[in-house]
Amino acid sequence: MNALHTTADILDIEKIRADFPILQTKVNGRPLVYFDNAASSQKPWKVIKAIEDYYTKLNSNVHRGVHHLSQKATDAFEASRRKVAAFINAAHDYEVIFTRGTTESINLVAHSFGKRFVNEGDVVIISALEHHSNIVPWQMLCEDRGAKLKVIPINEKGELNIEAFRELLDDTVKIVSVNYVSNSLGTINPVKEIISLARYNDIPVMLDVAQAVQHMPIDVQELDVDFAAFSSHKMYGPTGIGVLYGKESWLNKMPPYQGGGEMIKTVTFDKTVYNELPFKFEAGTPHIEAVICLSAAIDYINEIGLDNIARYEHELLVYATEQLSMIEGIRFIGTADNKASVVSFNLDGIHAYDVGVILDQLGIAVRTGHHCTQPLMDIFCIPGTVRASFAFYNTKEEIDALVEGVKRASRMLR
Ligand SMILES: Cc1ncc(COP(=O)(O)O)c(C=O)c1O
Repeated sequence: MNALHTTADILDIEKIRADFPILQTKVNGRPLVYFDNAASSQKPWKVIKAIEDYYTKLNSNVHRGVHHLSQKATDAFEASRRKVAAFINAAHDYEVIFTRGTTESINLVAHSFGKRFVNEGDVVIISALEHHSNIVPWQMLCEDRGAKLKVIPINEKGELNIEAFRELLDDTVKIVSVNYVSNSLGTINPVKEIISLARYNDIPVMLDVAQAVQHMPIDVQELDVDFAAFSSHKMYGPTGIGVLYGKESWLNKMPPYQGGGEMIKTVTFDKTVYNELPFKFEAGTPHIEAVICLSAAIDYINEIGLDNIARYEHELLVYATEQLSMIEGIRFIGTADNKASVVSFNLDGIHAYDVGVILDQLGIAVRTGHHCTQPLMDIFCIPGTVRASFAFYNTKEEIDALVEGVKRASRMLR
C-alpha cells in the first residue's frame, strides 16, 4: 500500500482524483461524472507527464541507432516490456509483444496461429459474451480455412454454461478464445476452470483480458494461459498501444503476422530470416512513446494496488446495484454472481440512447448501445443497454448523481 493513495484500509479518493486533471471538467455547468471507463479510462498526471518527458528528453527511434538518444529510448522501451512482463507475471520479457491494442493482439493470433494450426473441419470456440474483436477475427479465420466457430452459451444472468463448454471439447477444437470479464455485462468468467478443461484436452486458450487487467491481478503463469490480450487505454495508459502475451513455445511455432523492418534478421531478394521473439511480431517502428508511458500507468496502478482497487470498485458496484434497483421499471442486463464494476440496464419502454442523452445533459458520461457485442444483445432480445462502468477514482456521490439522473430520465421519457 502506498501512503500517498491509501489510508488505513481504504483508498484516499480525494488524493487519487487530484491525480486525474480531466476529472475537474465541467459539462453543461456541472461536474463531470465519468462512468465510461470500460470504453477508455482517464489518465493520471504521471502518464501525462511521461508523455511530455518522452518528447522533451528521449524522442528517437528504437533498436536501430548507436547514438545517445536512440539508446536511451531503446532502454526505456525495453524497460517497459519488462514492467509489463512483471505486471502479468510472464516467465520471459520476450513473451510480451507490443501491438496497437486488444483488437490487434487477437487478430495477430487468429491470423498467425490460425495459418499454422487451423485447417478444414477444425473448430474454434468463443463465448456468447465476446466483444466483436474476439468474434470477427475468428469468423474470418474460419471462413478462410473452412473451419467452424462454436459458441459457449450463457444463462439468463449472463454466466457461461460450463457444462455446455465441456461438451464442445473434442479433438477438432484447435483453440478456445474467451474474455475474462465481459465488457457489456461485467461477468467475471471462470477462466481457471475453462483453461483446465481445455488443457485436459490439449487445447490452447486465449484470454481477452481487456476488461480484467485494470481491475484485478492477472498472473499468466498461475492461470497457465497460452495467450492474453489487453489495451493500455483501458488501464490509465495512452491509446494506440496494447499487449499480446504468448507462451514462448507457441510464439516460436507461429509465423510472423506482418513483414517489414524490425521483424527480420537478414533479408535478400531470395529469402528473409525472421528475427527472434519478441521482434518477430513487431514489424515497423512501434508506438514508442505509448509503450514507454504504459510503464508509467502500470507504476500508478501498482502504487494504489490492484487488491485495493478490486475491493473499492466492488463496493461501488454493490452500492450502484442497490441504489439503481430501487428505480421503478429498471431491468439489469447481466446479474452474474461474480461481476466486475460494470452495471448495464434498461428502463422499461425507453431507449437506452435517450437515457444517455439526458444523463449527458447532467454531466454524466455513460455508454449506450450494443457495446460491440451485438450477438449478446440479440440473446437478450434488446438493441442495447445503458452501461455505467466504474473506476477507482469514482465515488458513491457520483453514483447518487447517476441514480437521480436515471430517475429524471424515467420521469421525462415516460
Ligand atoms: C472485452 C473487450 N475486448 C476487446 C476490446 C477491444 O479493445 P481495443 O478497441 O482497445 O482494441 C474491448 C474494448 O472495449 C473490450 O471491452
